[in-house]
Amino acid sequence: MKFEKRILCIGAGFVGGPTAAMIACKCPRYRVTVVDTNRERIAQWNSATLPVYEPGLDEIVRKTRGRNLFFDTDIPKGIRESEIIFVCVNTPTKTFGAGAGLAADLQFWEKTARQILEHARSPKIVVEKSTFPVKTALAMERILNSRAGGIHFDVLSNPEFLAEGTAVRDMEFPDRVLIGSRDTEQGYRARDVLVALYANWVPRERIITSNIWSSELSKLAANLFLAQRVSTINAVSAICEKTEADVTEVSKIVGMDGRIGARFLNASIGFGGSCFKKDILNLVYLCRHEGLPEVADYFEAVVRINEYQKERFVLNMLEAMFNTLAGKRICLFGFAFKADTSDTRESPAIHVARRLLEEKAEVVVTDPRALDNAKADLRGLDGKIRFVQDPYRAAQGCQAIAVMTEWGLYRGLDYEKIYKRMVRPAFIFDGRNILDHRRCHAIGFNVYPLGRPALTHFK
Ligand code: UDX
Repeated sequence: MKFEKRILCIGAGFVGGPTAAMIACKCPRYRVTVVDTNRERIAQWNSATLPVYEPGLDEIVRKTRGRNLFFDTDIPKGIRESEIIFVCVNTPTKTFGAGAGLAADLQFWEKTARQILEHARSPKIVVEKSTFPVKTALAMERILNSRAGGIHFDVLSNPEFLAEGTAVRDMEFPDRVLIGSRDTEQGYRARDVLVALYANWVPRERIITSNIWSSELSKLAANLFLAQRVSTINAVSAICEKTEADVTEVSKIVGMDGRIGARFLNASIGFGGSCFKKDILNLVYLCRHEGLPEVADYFEAVVRINEYQKERFVLNMLEAMFNTLAGKRICLFGFAFKADTSDTRESPAIHVARRLLEEKAEVVVTDPRALDNAKADLRGLDGKIRFVQDPYRAAQGCQAIAVMTEWGLYRGLDYEKIYKRMVRPAFIFDGRNILDHRRCHAIGFNVYPLGRPALTHFK
């Protein structure tokens, strides 16, 4: 079969894999290839068990793989054969040198740009798909167009707004697709090629075009706004606990204001995931660099409140359990940073587990999807840790359950059965406010919700 267009995704991670699969699914006339240097990862994408868990992803990969979707390790060949290249490599936070802990580590990205330059034999449209600091496209352009008389490259910014756990739905029915380009004839031509690609399934009015810097900054700003909402409601949860107000009620009332809206107002043990913290710290770094220290401090507070919320949760547990956790067995319900994903990056559960071990508690971790990642996250820590898939067995002999992830499964468990297997007095700390607290209290648990009065049996 002759394909109309050849598309390449460099980076077979959470963004590259699902993006490629969706394009392949919606554009059967395009050939889409995903490449990565990590052979094991590519082998997983070619196997029955995909390296990332996303509802609905298996199905679209099964439908397209081998037809117009391919996973491969031959990056040079992929570059030579494609017209559009999506750069989906990861941009972790820098751990060394200037900007360590704040700025993005761009070494993988720069390596990719140089690889494209080395292997390309014809003009390409290079699309920034991963979240990059503002002005990365400029650096990309400079590297790519650094050869006098060489091939011309157009660089576009097309940030990914998908959230994990709902990636397939988010990509199929996006709120908006954003394409940033240079304000030149050449830039517009490249932009229109990408617009046409998305127009295969996205209504035209949802495809937004902008200048390339607005596009890069909008992605970071969107995550700042979302994270800020979570940090704000989490800060409110702390006042609720001191005043006997109920954060769930407050959140509902505030969210009914049409200007504010109801979403992203669930108090939690803290936000996690690969984006929020990283993107906000990127902005903080950028602001400091640009001589805007007040703005940097303001943004940084969003992250600080998040750290505070995680630690506050642990200290609440300690206080409720008579100021000592030493030798007590505590079960963490969930380890993923949110439900419906196996991803544990920046999961608040990591902080909680680490702190409980420091308090010399024994930790039992249960999670329907994330136990392998949990094991890797906690490797090398001192203390007693066990990983048990079955929540009933995990809670056996524990003094407390701490809900870390809002998996639907935890709502439907038989808490009577669980209570019988636990040591008394038994505690529940619900870091996601998902359980039926009254019912758990009636069974005999001492229940500590988040941002709501505790339900205890102590006089
Ligand atoms: C986020 C953005 O939503 C997405 O647009 C961007 O491209 C990548 O970052 P993701 O990290 O997958 O996506 O998760 P998201 O659903 O945004 O949740 C982030 C964190 O906030 C999770 O830990 C979640 O549990 C927490 N959260 C979310 C709350 O604590 N309360 C809420 O009301 C909503």
